[in-house]
Amino acid sequence: MKVAILGAAGGIGQALSLLLKTQLPNGTELSLYDIAPVTPGVAADLSHIPTDVKVTGFSGEDPSPALVSADIVLISAGVARKPGMDRSDLFNINAGIVKNLVSICADTCPKALIGIITNPVNTTVAIAASILKQKGVYDPARLFGITTLDIIRSNTFVAEVNGVSPEDVNVPVIGGHSGITILPLLSQSGFQFNADEAAAMTLRIQNAGTEVVEAKAGGGSATLSMGQAAAKFGLSLVRALNGEKGIVECTYVEGSGDKARFFAQPVLLGKNGVEEILSYGELSDFEETTLNASLDTLKADILLGELFKE
Ligand code: NAD
Ligand code: LMR
Repeated sequence: MKVAILGAAGGIGQALSLLLKTQLPNGTELSLYDIAPVTPGVAADLSHIPTDVKVTGFSGEDPSPALVSADIVLISAGVARKPGMDRSDLFNINAGIVKNLVSICADTCPKALIGIITNPVNTTVAIAASILKQKGVYDPARLFGITTLDIIRSNTFVAEVNGVSPEDVNVPVIGGHSGITILPLLSQSGFQFNADEAAAMTLRIQNAGTEVVEAKAGGGSATLSMGQAAAKFGLSLVRALNGEKGIVECTYVEGSGDKARFFAQPVLLGKNGVEEILSYGELSDFEETTLNASLDTLKADILLGELFKE
């Protein structure tokens, strides 16, 4: 099993690399790539941690040496928000970065499961799908937008207000990964929220990324919590590829298209990536209304990716 991280020297990349070095199953290879020259040094640093996970690091213009025989590729390469910016403001820079990296994945490891972290996720996943399709290797079961941060945030905040351990909370989050498109299904959390409480909690979860961007005051966006979220998702992919059954994650994938071409919802993972897209169940009236109000935004984000030409 080989896991590659593209953007590995960045804030998310280093946190994710550390978590995977310490949590991947014995014998797994961890391959780090970033355009930044420090990347082989990040790999050397991690390699001194005594686990049976072999780490290699690559930098420079060509990611392909890091991608040879990769089973899973997690992409966090790109720029992060500063206060006053929306995720969509990252499109101009990050669209080209994702397109180029996924194009090289298509050539070097066409069967790999690819998880996109780089924002705006609603759009970058559509760009990734287009380039994989152009290269003739697109399999919707193998491409994921990583929205796990929305789930772990929801679990944390819902646990906080209810005075329970976050480990005992599981809030599905559907839709997309920005603003109104992030829809936590509080009605399925096992806790009671009246209409005002549901609206306030939903808004807090939708704005959580901005909360971190503002608190970091120009120093970037969520990196440590995202490292944890991406590690959780990446480890679920590894377990599914290793044949473990019953692994479910909410993730942004191409599905039936009844709401939007790409949509985050619970997905059963298996040896070929998406084994089954699961129903997200019954929504409360508030959730139904919020979902319907978000679909134009989500579809416009996707269209931007579909129309992207460098
Ligand atoms: P960062 O600036 O700390 O790291 C980004 C890394 O990407 C840097 O090391 C940089 O050298 C590298 N990079 C830039 N262009 C590259 C290229 N062409 N090839 C390889 N590497 C390249 O940023 P970060 O905080 O790690 O955030 C990375 C991305 O993740 C941002 O777009 C951010 O918005 C996004 N993000 C997504 C989520 C999510 O929930 N999906 C959460 C947090 C952040
Ligand atoms: C987040 O949700 O923290 C990320 O998408 C980063 C951001 O720009 O908010």
